[in-house]
Amino acid sequence: RPLEVDTGDVSLNGFDHYMLKEIYEQPESIRNAMRGRLDDQDATAVFGGLNLTPQQLRSVERIVLTGCGTSWHSALVGEYLIEELARIPVSVEYASELRYRNPPMENNTLVFGITQSGETADTLAALRETKRKGHRTLAICNVVASSIAQAADGGVYLHAGPEIGVASTKAYTSQCCVLAMLALYFGRTRHMSYEGGKRLIEELRRLPAAVQQALTTDEQVRDVAKKYCNATNFLYLGRQYNFPTALEGALKLKEISYIHAEGYPAAEMKHGPIALVDKDTPSLFIVPRGTTHDKVMANMEEVKARGGPIIAVASHDDPHIEAIADDVIRVPSVQEFLQPIVTVVPLQLLSYHIALLRGCDVDKPRNLAKSVTVE
Ligand code: G6P
Repeated sequence: RPLEVDTGDVSLNGFDHYMLKEIYEQPESIRNAMRGRLDDQDATAVFGGLNLTPQQLRSVERIVLTGCGTSWHSALVGEYLIEELARIPVSVEYASELRYRNPPMENNTLVFGITQSGETADTLAALRETKRKGHRTLAICNVVASSIAQAADGGVYLHAGPEIGVASTKAYTSQCCVLAMLALYFGRTRHMSYEGGKRLIEELRRLPAAVQQALTTDEQVRDVAKKYCNATNFLYLGRQYNFPTALEGALKLKEISYIHAEGYPAAEMKHGPIALVDKDTPSLFIVPRGTTHDKVMANMEEVKARGGPIIAVASHDDPHIEAIADDVIRVPSVQEFLQPIVTVVPLQLLSYHIALLRGCDVDKPRNLAKSVTVE
């Protein structure tokens, strides 16, 4: 049942739509997510509401991240972050599956429910079920005192401010940012050195400026939108930290532009999706500099050889990309583990502009609700 979005007294602040306003708020919302949480002295992050003793913290053997929709995508980013930086095994679960699946969980499993609204019925039920089994449950949540925030044993607020557009944007980047800080926090209780923690903090502090710069792609993204707004299928491809970005970009396009889009890890393309490639099916590659850059470039060549149009989201200083891609959107370079927070910005803008060109209701897409409070 699509619920009416309650805009309360939140103003559009001169923007045409809440979604666009919220996309543009991201440098600030990310700053707010980090405010007071980076501790230079101990080279770690601090969280007021986790309610964990140092002993409980050290004894965590597994982390489960659960949520729905866009929040599930940030959980995927969190999996990469926490496993790499803190070396704690992570499982990501759709809340709607977790609530009925009854998976075996180690005693010292910590469960995070990730949710913008704090009201998603499946996420609430999944947390209640795991809590009932004696696991510690925490919320990563935007809406203060929401049902999930209250049901959990503790948690972290995003402080992103009200998100009105049905398609989640700023809550997503704030979730990724909080998960990066949690990875730092857990990492520093384990293997991460003081120096390593310091470097990570420096990188986090550069994020708002990098996101600000990513927003300057807006006009160029609008031109790309004009070129492809009549497509009926889209592929989004990325690897590692940017595999969830591919899923999130595809979801944004589906949600507000009603174009069928699929997100895939780029290397999986050859196991099926490449059969979809033709001159009318654009492939959007998220291909910033990093470990898998050259491999993703090779995937792009495969699409090009089959006549598929290519849009690339690439690093600002990548010299080879224009030789393959038809359209290149350049974003600033950040460390790989923070790339999803920057590379998703042009994808949010692309879905926004395509939706506008197709005459869709950007803030209230058909059949969707801001928070789904039924099963
Ligand atoms: C709905 C919204 C999505 C959102 C999902 C999870 O489907 O339309 O944008 O990602 O619920 O919502 P939550 O509030 O739990 O993050």
